[in-house]
Amino acid sequence: MAGVDYTERIPNNVGLADNRRLLRALEEWQPRYLDWWREMGPDGYQAKQVYLRTAVSVDAQGWAHFDWVRMPDYRWGIFLAEPEPNRVIAFGEHKGTPAWPDVPGEHRGTLRRLIVTQGDTEPASVEQQRHLGRTCPSLYDLRNLFQVNVEEGRHLWAMVYLLHAHFGRDGREEAEALLQRRSGDSDKPRILGAFNEKTPDWLSFFMFSFFTDRDGKYQLAALAESGFDPLARTCRFMLTEEAHHMFVGETGISRVVQRTCEVMREQRTDDVRRHGAIDLATIQRYLNFHYSVSLDLFGSEISTNAANFYTAGVKGRFEETKKTDDHVLRDATYPVTQPDGETIRTVEEPALTALNERLRDDYIADCQRGVDRWNAVIKRHGIAAELRLPHRGFHRAIGNFAGLHVTPDGRVVSAAEWEARRAEWLPTPDDQVFITSLMTPVVEPGRYAGWIAPPARGINGQPLEFEYVRLAGE
Ligand SMILES: [Fe+2]
Ligand SMILES: [Fe+2]
Repeated sequence: MAGVDYTERIPNNVGLADNRRLLRALEEWQPRYLDWWREMGPDGYQAKQVYLRTAVSVDAQGWAHFDWVRMPDYRWGIFLAEPEPNRVIAFGEHKGTPAWPDVPGEHRGTLRRLIVTQGDTEPASVEQQRHLGRTCPSLYDLRNLFQVNVEEGRHLWAMVYLLHAHFGRDGREEAEALLQRRSGDSDKPRILGAFNEKTPDWLSFFMFSFFTDRDGKYQLAALAESGFDPLARTCRFMLTEEAHHMFVGETGISRVVQRTCEVMREQRTDDVRRHGAIDLATIQRYLNFHYSVSLDLFGSEISTNAANFYTAGVKGRFEETKKTDDHVLRDATYPVTQPDGETIRTVEEPALTALNERLRDDYIADCQRGVDRWNAVIKRHGIAAELRLPHRGFHRAIGNFAGLHVTPDGRVVSAAEWEARRAEWLPTPDDQVFITSLMTPVVEPGRYAGWIAPPARGINGQPLEFEYVRLAGE
């Protein structure tokens, strides 16, 4: 059962052939998806052969399949992780009862909203990144971008399958709407703010993959605990794809930092811009921006919605089953950071309403591990500098800190003081002009742009000079 049938029009491991109605509905959606991909997917590379990884089964070995593919021919399909026999709900008021194979009527609206919100981010990021191919720093990076893009497309398939299979007519309408909205379009924007921002350059792309895509990882991990078993299994498989996206972001920034440090050492200066590298201060400003907009994606610190999702068994915590508490949390508390006049304090709040904050904390700890690895690169070069995650209250638009002016080191200041120092903390128009000036494409196999170090190793054991995307010929 772990194998995926690739002879079918829609590769799947959910027995689509046995459900004619669902099969027909998805086969009708498929050409509209392809229209969307051609219109909004990677600009200019649709006819090129790309060295892509495809899932041939959902177990760990199933990822070993690499081949040359034109992106519109990528076999997008529907893959769920293997069912856990006799799975029970691990938390909330239904704790210990069998997981649901179908959507319970009373949670229909909630689950649909969660699935649509998650599903909407997938095509949104493809749209945000569609022009990046034109300025790739190497064929290796170009291939990684396209791998992420086709997998985000597959994540849309994953959510659309759930909508079609479990939500009837409403689900089919939502599946259409997912192809209609457009990132950054004022008339029909994508649902979440960060997914309407531009990803105009590769520094932003790596930051997005590290910070914003990582929010996706944590949302998927919480949904992978859901009592609604098809959602849990879908998300568990998506997480295996997500790991590669995290890799692209983390190693991308790490390579930028490495190149910066090399130039700082060679030229004996912090002012590396003149030598075509990105100064650490600019990297820090991009980090501050992408981190803060990504923190907002977790929602308000105190949320009755989050409490209700949990108690209902719809959305769990990160690594719910590994936690040793009662998994009901009725009497538990959780520390929440909040402003109190001019100061910022941590207070105990009911754990149920603080679940967004708890997921954000897990996310922050994960981000910090990546920053530590970047700092190890700086240290290895004998440079006394550090990248830092700004305070969680910095530059926030949602939750306790919205409307406040918090510095990266966590002081509440006046609007005037904050604005006066904005250019120290967030990317400036001048930064953007500089970063844009570096974005000239490098497409000879084995060559890398001057602002980024080559990767430590190639993809799937291939050498760095491998032709990861065949640009000549079609
Ligand atoms: Fe995704
Ligand atoms: Fe992703």
